[in-house]
Amino acid sequence: MAELQQEFQKQFGKPPELTVRAPGRVNLIGEHTDYNEGFVFPAAIDRVMNIAASPVDGKTVTVYSLDYRQKDSFSLDAIEKSQYGWANYLRGVLKIMRDAGHKVTAFNAVISGDVPQGAGLSSSAAYEVAVARLVSTMGSIGLSGKNIALLSQRAENQFVGVQCGIMDQFISALAERDSALLIDCRNLEYRAVKLNLEARGVSIVITNSGVQRGLVDSEYNARRNECAEGVRLLGELSGHPIHSLRDVSLSDLDEFSTQLPEVVARRCHHVVSENHRVLAAVEKLEQGHLRSLGKLMNESHASLRDDYQVSTPEVDLLVNLTQNHPGTLGARMTGAGFGGCTVAIMETTTVDEFVKNVLPLYEKQTGRKPEVYVCTAVDGASVN
Ligand code: GLA
Repeated sequence: MAELQQEFQKQFGKPPELTVRAPGRVNLIGEHTDYNEGFVFPAAIDRVMNIAASPVDGKTVTVYSLDYRQKDSFSLDAIEKSQYGWANYLRGVLKIMRDAGHKVTAFNAVISGDVPQGAGLSSSAAYEVAVARLVSTMGSIGLSGKNIALLSQRAENQFVGVQCGIMDQFISALAERDSALLIDCRNLEYRAVKLNLEARGVSIVITNSGVQRGLVDSEYNARRNECAEGVRLLGELSGHPIHSLRDVSLSDLDEFSTQLPEVVARRCHHVVSENHRVLAAVEKLEQGHLRSLGKLMNESHASLRDDYQVSTPEVDLLVNLTQNHPGTLGARMTGAGFGGCTVAIMETTTVDEFVKNVLPLYEKQTGRKPEVYVCTAVDGASVN
């Protein structure tokens, strides 16, 4: 943050009037359920996007990226795509907020973040949420966390062009420290569930497989379409219109699955069973049964690998090695898939040994250097 403030002074000749931070996230369980109106259970991590800014008169927004050492400048009256990829998240949020009728005023800003990019830890959602929070504060709009999340998601869907669900923006805006949020993506009701990591002697260990997420957008959209096809066919087969896979029980699915195309049946099975696992995982956590929670995480991974088919051989290897480490309670891939990170719940006293003895095995077999982030669960976006 100090570096950001210094850079602001250097770029714009005076200190910034406010700073905003918004965190990245790790999803503990509930993958590819959000756009199926299901349940998710993410936490925000202590890797964040920071913005230092001051309002200015007129219509010109000027933003300097400390990470890319590039400057982007544009008029609020003509927000088009930028030549700089990093600038489009900011432009997108401003455009969506203006289109929604909010008062968006001009500003100077410097941005910088330490959420690893392309690793499935939602660096883009953190960025969008930070921008929405900044604009809401500067224009005294007073947007709720939910509205900030929804506007940020809309920017990602409509301006950036990625058809993501609501999970990432929601947790970045509304997270609570040392907690994960159980979010019902059908109505956006949620509740914070305490993790008590320290008292329980466990850590959230995120490992970056070093496989940059490839194909993620096209495969992500393909999965969404397969789920929509499942909803349509299950509605026809059962004779009752179905709104989403949330309306489908495992026994309904058993009854009709042989009449579905095999791939569609697998996708539906993942989503319906994952919703059950999320609710069971929260119950186990609240009862302090961390081994049972871990087992559900392992099952989630198997379902993502075999039914939803969004893992990769490297990520499967990393998950296997992690699960076989004696201090691990559970491990799975996290995020959209096709590379990126794994998440494990691990006894804290064994993390060093994991890093020293297990990760080199992964590196030896894949030639990729994994990175480990031992994270704490932090609060959602905030302004200073
Ligand atoms: C990405 C999307 C989320 C969610 C996950 C998969 O992170 O942005 O909305 O769909 O993938 O669970």
